[in-house]
Amino acid sequence: MKKLDDLRKRALAGGGEEKIKKHHERGKLTARERINLLLDPDTFTELGMFVTHRCHDFGMEDKKVLGDGVVTGYGKIHGRLVYVVSEDFTVFGGSLSKVYAEKISKVQDLSLRNGAPIVCIKDSGGARIQEGVDSLAGYGEVFIRNVLASGVVPQISAIMGPCAGGAVYSPALTDFVFMVNEGSYMFLTGPNVIKEVTHEEVSFEDLGGATVHHRKSGIAHFATENEEQCLSMIRQLLTYMPQNNLSDPPKIECNDPVDRMEESLDGIVPADPSKPYDMRKAVESIVDDGKMFEVHENFAGSLIVGFARLGGSPVGIVANQPKHLAGVLDTKSSVKGARFIRFCDCFNIPLIVFEDAPGFLPGVDQEHNGVIKEGAKLLYAFCEATVPRITVITRKAFGGAYIAMNSRHIRCDMSFAWPTAQIAVMGSKGAVRILFRRDIAADPDPEARRKWMEDEYDEKFNNPYIAANRGYVDEVIKPHETRPKLITALRSMESKRDNNPMKKHGNGPL
Ligand code: HXC
Repeated sequence: MKKLDDLRKRALAGGGEEKIKKHHERGKLTARERINLLLDPDTFTELGMFVTHRCHDFGMEDKKVLGDGVVTGYGKIHGRLVYVVSEDFTVFGGSLSKVYAEKISKVQDLSLRNGAPIVCIKDSGGARIQEGVDSLAGYGEVFIRNVLASGVVPQISAIMGPCAGGAVYSPALTDFVFMVNEGSYMFLTGPNVIKEVTHEEVSFEDLGGATVHHRKSGIAHFATENEEQCLSMIRQLLTYMPQNNLSDPPKIECNDPVDRMEESLDGIVPADPSKPYDMRKAVESIVDDGKMFEVHENFAGSLIVGFARLGGSPVGIVANQPKHLAGVLDTKSSVKGARFIRFCDCFNIPLIVFEDAPGFLPGVDQEHNGVIKEGAKLLYAFCEATVPRITVITRKAFGGAYIAMNSRHIRCDMSFAWPTAQIAVMGSKGAVRILFRRDIAADPDPEARRKWMEDEYDEKFNNPYIAANRGYVDEVIKPHETRPKLITALRSMESKRDNNPMKKHGNGPL
């Protein structure tokens, strides 16, 4: 017994008092403090606490720390099982040895076999240099498990320190990446290597800090003020998810009336089609208790994606944001949408789409950056999704955006439109310019003629009634009715069954 107590005490001491003190002075929590904040109190069971490395080079045989720099195990979040990995920077800089990787692989296997989410908190100097290829092998074994678990159990990564070199590929293979402002970095090659190779000078923060990855590269879905906020947000995020792909996301009691009419929506779309409005506000006024858990909040702002609840059931929201670039679809927003849609489809989370998009963004830069391929990703993701899918067209549904944003033609289950919807190949200005350029030029009052023709085009084509007449829109609804209409439709689809043709896997645009 005494021996066991001593061993436990030694393991819990991590890299020792001095290293922990230094770690705290940097404003960072230790691996175990992080786990304690992440999980429900007293629910953590640690596995592999006494594991030590097997390296005999570079004097490592004399340097053994119980646990070897990573804390692994399982516990509960809001009463539900979750597996957890927390890298311990105080032990060999959190660097990954072969046994360290085996500890991670072990909980990855358990998470997959037992069908429960896994959260990995990263804080590591990368491959343990003393172990050479054994360490690389360890990474490979973690990566393949990330891939095999993809779409089976939710995988979440939180970067709370360095995450460099090939190590970045484990979080990149997971569903959601959190970073903490200041002190968390992700990069393939660091500032020194970059300086040598390309002669560029850049700081850690500017190269791979939370701001860069949250706003520019889109690699991080969330950037948080501090570690506490990060761990609390992970707990919140998990409430929208099922345990695995074979279960449904958890419903909660809904105190927001399901038949609530939201009168403020009736005036939200401005009469002038070129005027923006805030789609986030519209969505928040429809969903339960006005709460949306937004993903990628500061990346590709013309598309909003996030989780919410309708009548107590989790849903994934995909909405164009007219306040940002008029809600246009571009390379970044297409990929942002595609990835989110695929997550929801993997995990049985119905998709609710709010559409106000003038189309795909024109421009040389967009074309050269592959808007064809990136836009196809969005299209592919919607086409492939078999979860319940509902669209609400609030205003513009033009051209490719009409089709791509969950239209009837690509298998949406229910399509609603507000009376302010404009469903056409393009807006009246563009249409009149193309169709009647010569007539306008020949008119003694070209401006009046142009205006008249645009009004006529708007009257005839830019409304929801032609699409409703064809059956492409199921129902034209008053904006204030949107919440009850959505909840009724969603409930009618609770036992939806739909399958894609059998195949090894699709070959979507990458
Ligand atoms: C072994 C490491 C280590 C590593 C850090 N340490 N990184 N030990 N292997 N990769 C040790 C340090 O020697 C030190 O030990 C302790 O951890 C803390 O490190 P410091 O350098 O003192 O800390 P800090 O100043 O905060 O700098 C952190 C750091 C830096 C930026 C992460 O340590 C660093 O640059 N490390 C190397 C990063 C790297 O190049 N990794 C390999 C990437 S390639 P003592 O005993 O002095 O406390 C890779 C390939 C993966 O990972 C491929 C997968 C496919």
